[in-house]
Amino acid sequence: MATDTALQTLKSPHLLGIKDLSAEEIQLIFSTADQFKEVLNRPIKKVPSLRDITIANVFFENSTRTRLSFELAEKRLSADVVNFSSSSSSVKKGETLLDTVNNILAMKVDMVVMRHASPGAPHFLSRHIDAHVINAGDGTHEHPTQALLDTYSIYSKFGEVAGKKVAIVGDIMHSRVALSNIFALQKLGAEVLVCGPATLLPKYITQLGINATLDIREALEWCDVANILRIQLERQQVKYFPSLREYSLYYGVNRELLNSLNKPITIMHPGPINRGVELNSDVADSEHAIILEQVENGVAVRMAVLYLLAGQTKSA
Ligand code: CP
Repeated sequence: MATDTALQTLKSPHLLGIKDLSAEEIQLIFSTADQFKEVLNRPIKKVPSLRDITIANVFFENSTRTRLSFELAEKRLSADVVNFSSSSSSVKKGETLLDTVNNILAMKVDMVVMRHASPGAPHFLSRHIDAHVINAGDGTHEHPTQALLDTYSIYSKFGEVAGKKVAIVGDIMHSRVALSNIFALQKLGAEVLVCGPATLLPKYITQLGINATLDIREALEWCDVANILRIQLERQQVKYFPSLREYSLYYGVNRELLNSLNKPITIMHPGPINRGVELNSDVADSEHAIILEQVENGVAVRMAVLYLLAGQTKSA
């Protein structure tokens, strides 16, 4: 498949994080996703690009969007797909991560899409197995395809990412989406501001070259796009704020707050949404939100990633 950029392939055989990608590689993924988006709008949404490629979706943590989106992307590309969920597997009998994956690979699998609660788990895997590894979210570390679909959604809406002001609001401390988005937005030339309670902003965050504020009104007045993140209660061992009700009062985004700004802004959310906590339904379901466009774009972006990685070993 021809692309508009000079670069024709990704440098690494794996997609482990946005930190490792160049701006040119992200643009190659976007231009490839543009073409797959066109395919997805055809009456017949399937292409034979990954015929004879077998992909295992190996999820050690819960997922709705990422898992379904990868599976659909793989099937649209005509790959053979197997799904593994740790909660119903022999992991429950004490099997290790490496044994689990090596057993799956012994069945001749070419690519592994993995979500794991431990930061670095996909990196560990990529050093020990002979298959492409795609990180579908590793603990609080990175979620590269989420950041690619988020920035692709900004590019789709505005025509470019460079120069856009993007506020990332909420639980930055426990969010893999935040870190991957910061890397992707910076590489593409956007300005980034993070906003949340002091207890949920890591001390190192401004060392990444971005600004931070505790004031949500300041963040929303500054930005073109606000990416609102979920409070990750499952990752919080201690209380970082008094109650969800208080969080919602100070950091919840609602229609009244948006109406009081002096300009319209675009609202994004990676999902799952905790309605009434970080985002009210009167915004999540409004014309300001592109949340379902993000999900739609996710399939095309993941098709692009799978296609470009598989193309390193198979002429598609
Ligand atoms: N955005 C995201 O990763 O959602 P899931 O946890 O449902 O995959």
